[in-house]
Amino acid sequence: DAFCAVVPAAGIGKRMQSDIPKQYLSLAGKTILEHCLLNLIAHPRIQHIILALHPQDPWFNKLGIASVPWLTVINGGKERADSVLNGLQQARMSEWVLVHDAARPCLPHTDIDKLLALAGGNEGGILATPVRDTMKRADEQGLVLRTEEREHLWHALTPQFFPRAQLQHALSNALAQNISITDEASAIEWAGGKVRLVQGDPCNIKITHPEDLALAEFYLQRMKK
Ligand code: CTP
Ligand code: MG
Repeated sequence: DAFCAVVPAAGIGKRMQSDIPKQYLSLAGKTILEHCLLNLIAHPRIQHIILALHPQDPWFNKLGIASVPWLTVINGGKERADSVLNGLQQARMSEWVLVHDAARPCLPHTDIDKLLALAGGNEGGILATPVRDTMKRADEQGLVLRTEEREHLWHALTPQFFPRAQLQHALSNALAQNISITDEASAIEWAGGKVRLVQGDPCNIKITHPEDLALAEFYLQRMKK
């Protein structure tokens, strides 16, 4: 079986504080977006990628990757969930769909394999890593209310992998009701669906702050070896 991936890349990278959106910053000779796309398409079971870009994106067409046949470019939306939903509408050929952040260039293929193994089963799932630090819940004044049970807390990463129709319904209903949605799984949860956690590699970081660049570069060099 082969699958389609949706890559939301329409964000402005506010927290990165750079002149251009973080997906267009270069790392080890290529933009972060190119690392992300080339790594996905190099997986033998990923055959097509739907890429959501900002409607006024002036950067993408300058990249060598702009005219490859395995990529469909569509307009992203206001929030990440809008971008993903636009992408899913173009992914009708794929019964299950992977959604992966453009800002995660260090995804190991072994993690993709683990996720794709969910296809045909009864629930979709997401890559996740167990939290390492002791977790506190605090009030607005910064006073600790309590310590959360660490064994039950996970970081949600991407890719996230769900039956396309299920995800499309969940996202469009959640958006219509103004529910805040920061990943695909939260829409599925909100709709009452099940989400399987698949333990992933902690090297699959989302580049968010400037200090993440050096770490991503280190992981990328290590992946090539
Ligand atoms: N994204 C998108 N459409 C949006 C917002 C975000 O496609 N309206 C994409 C980003 O380009 C990124 C991924 O969703 O690949 C994860 O989002 P995030 O890390 O929050 O990126 P930004 O929104 O660009 O960054 P920030 O939140 O710091 O502005
Ligand atoms: Mg964002």
